Amino acid sequence: MDLYEYQAKDLFAAHGVPVLPGAVASTPEEAQAAAEKIGGQVVVKAQVKTGGRGKAGGVKLAKDPAEAKEKAEAILGLDIKGHITHRVLVTEASDIAEEYYFSFLLDRANRTFLAMASAEGGMEIEQLAVERPEALAKVPVDAIAGVDKAKALEILTQGNFPEAIRDQAADVVVKLWETFVAEDATLVEVNPLVRDPQDKIVALDGKVTLDENASFRQPKQEELVDKQTEDPLEAKAKAKDLNYVKLDGEVGIIGNGAGLVMSTLDVVAYAGEKHGGVKPANFLDIGGGASAEVMAAGLDVILNDPAVKSVFVNVFGGITACDAVATGIVEALKILGDEATKPLVVRLDGNNVEEGRRILNEANHPLVTQVDTMDNAADKAAELAAAGA
Ligand SMILES: Nc1ncnc2c1ncn2[C@@H]1O[C@H](COP(=O)(O)OP(=O)(O)OP(=O)(O)O)[C@@H](O)[C@H]1O
Ligand SMILES: [Mg+2]
Repeated sequence: MDLYEYQAKDLFAAHGVPVLPGAVASTPEEAQAAAEKIGGQVVVKAQVKTGGRGKAGGVKLAKDPAEAKEKAEAILGLDIKGHITHRVLVTEASDIAEEYYFSFLLDRANRTFLAMASAEGGMEIEQLAVERPEALAKVPVDAIAGVDKAKALEILTQGNFPEAIRDQAADVVVKLWETFVAEDATLVEVNPLVRDPQDKIVALDGKVTLDENASFRQPKQEELVDKQTEDPLEAKAKAKDLNYVKLDGEVGIIGNGAGLVMSTLDVVAYAGEKHGGVKPANFLDIGGGASAEVMAAGLDVILNDPAVKSVFVNVFGGITACDAVATGIVEALKILGDEATKPLVVRLDGNNVEEGRRILNEANHPLVTQVDTMDNAADKAAELAAAGA
């Protein structure tokens, strides 16, 4: 999960990384009030989860509260690379002597953590990395050893941070590492990390990505989720503990086991080519031991997706045998009642398949079509989706 700048800075502050005081506003009036509270010059910054806000006109200086209101008026509603600005951060304006770049990230390719540092920070770090890679230090960080002051100094020396502030900056870097570890982040980036005229080091910007695989041990981070921009179907699936990803097609997919669901997406996409180019509408793995409740929860999410025109239930009976899955489907359709309105193509195979098929035949639900093979079922589901579209 990516965080907004203001959320990232709240985490920074909680871990002792120096940031400037600020407040979030969703109206120009709130921005004015925030500027009054902060006093003096402020900066009004678009809160969107994308880079390059400054260049897009999303970061503006204001000399007084009246001007903060004006700038907020201009920034609220601004479309920055497809992200609409709903809120701004009003924060104290800093005198900037120098701008640096610093980040910690998970380097998947090299199976390690990585620190990146450059004395030439500011807005164009991607360009710097391409044009003058030697100016951007990349230092692997061992997960067990972590980052102590000595390691921080090593990184900053490689990044050419000026000697006068290196020690100070190293203290901040150690705290950024503490933030990275304690919050289970996969990215903590500060661009710019600034030196003010009094040689104080401050994080003026912040980007944090949290590892959702660790959310079970980070209950406090639940409140960082932005309900306003979260996909409602994904939110519903999450609340029901389902492994669901929304895609942009018309054939709803339910399967058991991630591998089977992945190949189901492929066969449906392939079959869809013959039926007007319909595509899978989602990924949904209900797991090995799928009960009727889980099947109902899964169907409920998929049937509520207005883009879905047909559903393909593809199950290979293993630990949970086909008869249990078939019962699950029948029960799920009972639970959903009138809410179930779209045709279902069911392909069962594996453990106890005859009994499973018999149960579905006996139930004889008007929405359910059984097809014996995966390819034929995919074709049928695609055909029904094309007919319903
Ligand atoms: N509080 C502040 N006081 C003074 N100047 C600021 C302040 N915040 C930002 N700036 C200036 O604006 C520039 C851009 O700000 P920031 O880094 O937050 O946004 P950005 O880099 O455009 O956004 P992103 O990081 O999303 O690409 C900074 O490099 C800095 O020069
Ligand atoms: Mg920035």
